[in-house]
Parts: sequence; structure tokens; C-alpha cells
Amino acid sequence: MAVKTQSLTIRRVAGALGAEIGGVDLSADLSDAVIAEIRQALVEHQVIFFRDQALTPAQQVRFGARFGPLNIHPYVAGMAGHPEVMEIIKEPEDRTNFGGGWHSDMSFLETPAIGSILYGLEIPEYGGDTLFASQAAAYDALSPGLKATLEGLRAVHSAGREYSAGGHSAQKRKSMSVVEAEGAAGEFVHPVVLTHPESGRKALYVNPAFTMRFEGWSRRESKPLLDFLFEHARYEAFTCRFAWAPGSVAFWDNRQVWHFALNDYPGQRRHMRRVTVDPRPSELARAGAKAATAI
Ligand code: SIN
Repeated sequence: MAVKTQSLTIRRVAGALGAEIGGVDLSADLSDAVIAEIRQALVEHQVIFFRDQALTPAQQVRFGARFGPLNIHPYVAGMAGHPEVMEIIKEPEDRTNFGGGWHSDMSFLETPAIGSILYGLEIPEYGGDTLFASQAAAYDALSPGLKATLEGLRAVHSAGREYSAGGHSAQKRKSMSVVEAEGAAGEFVHPVVLTHPESGRKALYVNPAFTMRFEGWSRRESKPLLDFLFEHARYEAFTCRFAWAPGSVAFWDNRQVWHFALNDYPGQRRHMRRVTVDPRPSELARAGAKAATAI
């Protein structure tokens, strides 16, 4: 059953997260009130979906910028004239896709992105869905004992593995230009349990792509607990799955959601455009501290 807010219709798509939003044209110059309703839906449902949109790169940038400054990816080239727009393209002859593993966007940065807005232009006839997993639901399901242990921990994140030669993200794809990070990727520390600055809800904040170890622990010591969390965090009941059509948009909250782009459409083309929203300086200040500390 869809719920009607002032301007939107909201229909939940799964138990843990996800809602399809109707009644809004994202290419329009939306009022502050509508943007606030979309933001509230994002925080509450963790990932929100829109159908039948038509967005030029400039319109996607304008919509994204209503939620915060837009990120320019350090390793993936942006569109000519729109450096904030990342084109995610898998050509029929490409073997690896981009984003084909569970992750939270940009957790490898000192100030990770709060949200990502992905717009589908060309969608394979079958396959190419995106999976999402609620890290808030994953946290809620832990025992009080493990929650207490994790509360005190921080974890080290880096792009070093994913974006180095041989890393999944740095694989050569015909229509995407990705530079290798090699030794240049820094390491940044984030809390293992993140308290959402807008909802106050807690979520796990480690992911298999970018989390290297717990702060003050060796990799070997960290591995068993990280492996447990990575497996726990993608339990089916914490997930939802989005089947794209041309004109679909997914907007996810990286502070409480993992995502995974399925690579099950060999020989077909998939073309998406993403803008990624950073926190505003005032949001970092409200959180009481910088989001991360360089080590
Ligand atoms: C990404 O990780 O941002 C890509 C997701 C997708 O293409 O479905």
C-alpha cells in the first residue's frame, strides 16, 4: 500500500529497506519542501527508487546538489563538462562490471559520501539488477554482547586494494577510464558502528571492498571478526533488489546501506550515470567531529 505525503507517494518494497517514490519529476526545479520530503524518505527507507525519469547530466547534477556538495571521484574519470557525473558503462565485450561486490561508496575517503544517485539510461534485456543491504538492520540483529564490543572499535578503510592493479574496481572496461591508486591511496579510520546524524539509528559501517582491518589490530587478527560481519551483513532478510528500466533512479544512503551491482548480462550493454553526494561542512560540524582521521 502506498503512503501519501504532502507531495510524494511512497511504497515500501521490502521489510528491511527500500521504497519506490512516485509523484515527482526529478528534472524539475523542485521546491525546498519537496527536497525535504525526499531526504526524509531517504533517511527512513535507506534507499529510494523513482521510475520514468528523464534527466540530462546537468539536471542530475542540479538534483544531486540539492542534498549536498557533489563528489568528484578520485579514480574514475567524470563526464566531459560534468566532472561530478560518473558514467558507469559495461559494454557487451567487457567481462567485469563496476560495483560488482558489496560496498559502501567512498568509505575509503576521509569524509565519505552520504548518498549516491544512479540513473539508468540503457538497461540489459535481462539482468543487471542492483542489490541493497541494510546495515542498520544488520546492526539491530546483533547480540547485545557483540554490539557492545563493536561500539568501541574503529576500522581502517582504503581504496588501495580495490583500485590497485588487479583490484576489481580498477579493471579495464572499454568505456570507463579508471586510474590505479597504487601506493597513493590513503588510509582513513571510521567508527565500526555509525550513528546516523539525521535519524540517530545505528548501523554497521564496515564493508568487504574498502575495510582493511580494525584500528590497532593486525590484518590477521581483524579477519575473523570482519569475515563474520561481512557475512552477517548481507543476510537475505536485510536486502532488497532493484530491477532497472530506462529512466529509473536509485538514491541510496551510504551511511546505512551496502550495494552490489549484479554482473549477469554477458554480451549486453548497461549504461548508468551516478552523482555522489558529500556531507555539507555544517553536517560534519553537527556530528561533533570530523568523519574520519588520517593515520
Ligand atoms: C555502483 O557501485 O555505484 C554501481 C551500482 C550499479 O551500477 O548498479
